[in-house]
Amino acid sequence: MGQEYKDINKEELDNLVTDEQLYEGKAKKVFATEDPNLVLVSYKDDATAFDGTKRGTIRGKGAVNNQMSNYLMNLLENEGIPTHLYKEVNETDTLVKHVDIIPLEVIVRNISAGSFANHYGVEEGIVFDQPTFEFSYKNDDLHDPLLNSSHALALKLATPEEIKTLREYALKVNDILKEFFLSCGVTLVDFKLEFGRTPDGTVILADEISPDTCRFWDVETGEKLDKDRFRRDLGNVEDAYQEMMHRIFG
Ligand code: TMP
Repeated sequence: MGQEYKDINKEELDNLVTDEQLYEGKAKKVFATEDPNLVLVSYKDDATAFDGTKRGTIRGKGAVNNQMSNYLMNLLENEGIPTHLYKEVNETDTLVKHVDIIPLEVIVRNISAGSFANHYGVEEGIVFDQPTFEFSYKNDDLHDPLLNSSHALALKLATPEEIKTLREYALKVNDILKEFFLSCGVTLVDFKLEFGRTPDGTVILADEISPDTCRFWDVETGEKLDKDRFRRDLGNVEDAYQEMMHRIFG
């Protein structure tokens, strides 16, 4: 895969990216490129919640999620976490390394919220002494059920070594991002990561890190600055995404 694309111009990009759509998810489209090791991810403004039963549009979300995710992946890469990031090509589109996604949602929590609060019957906002680590099986038909490591092994979703790596990486990502967001006046409550395998079997961080996939609370006021504003009809959804952009990029 070519370093030669890193300073890609418009014409080279047009020649590289094909019209072949490999995948359309709820929030992104993925296009093939002429390089089998690279794909183009195009972030959409579409938002869904509760397994796609709630649908809407969050104006500007694609641009925010693309740029925020790339900024954070670059930060993590510099701290030793391998990621899929290759090159941002415009506000909403990024070239990333082609991986096979491991069908596990890797979730880390610092504070009780969302499904944790619901499952265990506790209020939101309890600060944990240590972060929690959990998997969900990435399977919409089954509603992404919670599962443990032995379930993941039984279902052959990952190898024992991969599970160890996912845990190590996710907890390191938490340490790095918690500190980073604190410097932006934001508490990192919880987040979901997805990882993929490169053709040589290396596990790297993939998907996105954005207000769609994290809970962000303002340090001072506790105001929610993430997709919970959409999920829970709290209003000012677009403003929250823009506010997170300002916190990171100034
Ligand atoms: P949860 O509390 O609903 O399990 O969510 C935990 C974290 O995972 C939260 O930061 C939001 C994120 N998340 C996703 O990225 N995708 C999803 O489909 C869900 C349900 C949660």
